[in-house]
Amino acid sequence: MPPTHTPSPDHDDAAQKPSRRRFLQSAAAAAAVTAAPLAHAQQPGASAPASSSAPMPPSSAPTMPVHLTINGHPYELHVEARTTLLDALREYAGLTGTKKGCDRGQCGACTVIVAGRRINSCLTLAVMHAGETVTTVEGLAPAADALSPLQQAFIEQDAFQCGYCTPGQLCSATALIDEYRNGDASAATADVRYRPPQLSDDEIRERMSGNICRCGAYPNIVAAVKVVALTRG
Ligand code: FES
Ligand code: FES
Repeated sequence: MPPTHTPSPDHDDAAQKPSRRRFLQSAAAAAAVTAAPLAHAQQPGASAPASSSAPMPPSSAPTMPVHLTINGHPYELHVEARTTLLDALREYAGLTGTKKGCDRGQCGACTVIVAGRRINSCLTLAVMHAGETVTTVEGLAPAADALSPLQQAFIEQDAFQCGYCTPGQLCSATALIDEYRNGDASAATADVRYRPPQLSDDEIRERMSGNICRCGAYPNIVAAVKVVALTRG
């Protein structure tokens, strides 16, 4: 006796695979969860004095307040102890100029300047920098409608293509120029008796070696750094 009903292969596939509609619904929900912390991002200046209420964390895990001065503005961020400085800047302070490339200290896209020193913000915890000053790419220019000398030189020298590495390159190069003018030597310094050291292309490449550019704009980045370090204030 023949079976009364034989499911077609198509029917089985439809039952096992998520529909396009369900996939889109899931993706939208995931995007909403990812964006949630930004809804609580604290803005600098008058809208976010150090004593203002803190943004809520994205989870119910214990948090602690961390006071930071970011680009000259006071912030009070309530973060989990495990929150990296990079995530604190991007997800809590809403400063998304600093980029996350590898999240493991290999690319330099997350470089910011903390207490005058450039660091990979993905490799350090926000709570370790309580009370310190942080400069991100948003804070390099002297005014909202102006560019820093280095930003101007990056444009003139065509020192970027996709731009993803550029915030880290700019922060790193800004600190590099300060280090050079302070007379700091590097592993490539031929004669440490020179103060400041002679700023050769090799010297710049060594000092910028922590910042990777997948687009390969290195010659133009070196040119931009050199013109600012040697000819501009
Ligand atoms: S994101 Fe920090 S070094 Fe790559
Ligand atoms: S400009 Fe594209 S990664 Fe550097």
